[in-house]
Amino acid sequence: MPRTAGDSWDIATSVGATAVMVALARAAETASAAPLIRDQFAEVLVSTPELEGVREQVAAWWAPEPGAGSEDGADPDFAVDSQHMIDYQAVRTHFFDAYFADAVAAGIRQVVILAAGLDSRAYRLDWPDGTVVYEIDLPRVLEYKAETLAAHGATPVVDRRPVPVDLRNDWPQALRDAGFDATRPTSWLAEGLLPFLPAAAQEAMFASIDNLSGSGSRAAVEIFGVDQEKRREAEQKWQELRARREARGQDTSFNPFDLWFDDEGRPDAADWFGAQGWTTRAVSALEEGLQLGRAPQSEERPFTNSFVTATKP
Ligand SMILES: C[S@@+](CC[C@H](N)C(=O)[O-])C[C@H]1O[C@@H](n2cnc3c(N)ncnc32)[C@H](O)[C@@H]1O
Repeated sequence: MPRTAGDSWDIATSVGATAVMVALARAAETASAAPLIRDQFAEVLVSTPELEGVREQVAAWWAPEPGAGSEDGADPDFAVDSQHMIDYQAVRTHFFDAYFADAVAAGIRQVVILAAGLDSRAYRLDWPDGTVVYEIDLPRVLEYKAETLAAHGATPVVDRRPVPVDLRNDWPQALRDAGFDATRPTSWLAEGLLPFLPAAAQEAMFASIDNLSGSGSRAAVEIFGVDQEKRREAEQKWQELRARREARGQDTSFNPFDLWFDDEGRPDAADWFGAQGWTTRAVSALEEGLQLGRAPQSEERPFTNSFVTATKP
């Protein structure tokens, strides 16, 4: 389903299901023999009966093609590979976990996780006393997480404040109403978010982060490095793959790319924050993965994303 201006979702539909996909990857990484990260809440969050359909859809999206690489098989380079996704999510989670550890070590006690989805950092990271973690996402997504974890007996290990609001609306007011103090240094995170926002909302979000940030604040943003030509090619191949899978009776309704806003005119995050005087650093996910001993399994398919961090003077 294409996106529309005021569209909304719960955890099992539309953009909500993408939060399930990344949590499934974290659950698989956590259960693996030598995990790079441990998200002990991911499995609980993705295992509820109401997510059965989403689990099946993601499994179909991740499935290797039967006969891939053979003459009658699909293009082996295109079928989404679950291990590639699990490796990438491990690297990404590891990077942003370390980003928050550094921020609190530097004395920051106010944290905002934009588009928190099933992020369980408020339940699993080591937060110093007095830290407040605000989580922004749509109401039903945040409710699902809190209710599922509470039913499992889990409680946040920090003052977690859900801010149920759409990031295309006046979220700064909702954040202030939840107690956010713009005079204090803040550590912001936008992980797995940018392509799901229209370009104008993305730029407005950057401007709000800057306006709401006291001196010493930090921001971390995941940048999706997709080459437009490769993207078009991939979409064409996905149409073929989808037709084959549908013929086999698989549920092909999950495709995160369908949910991206493709509007042009997005400023580069490092350039944007740099232009406002923030000190910025960009780290390629591929380099980070190599350094962590978690390179993608195929050289043909590198990690293409990057992580930008910025500090306000
Ligand atoms: C791929 S998930 C990432 C979730 C989380 N950051 C993580 O890495 O586990 C995308 C999340 O963005 C949220 N999201 C997308 N657009 C949003 C918007 N306009 N307002 C609030 N949340 C939004 C979705 O609800 C979903 O939880």
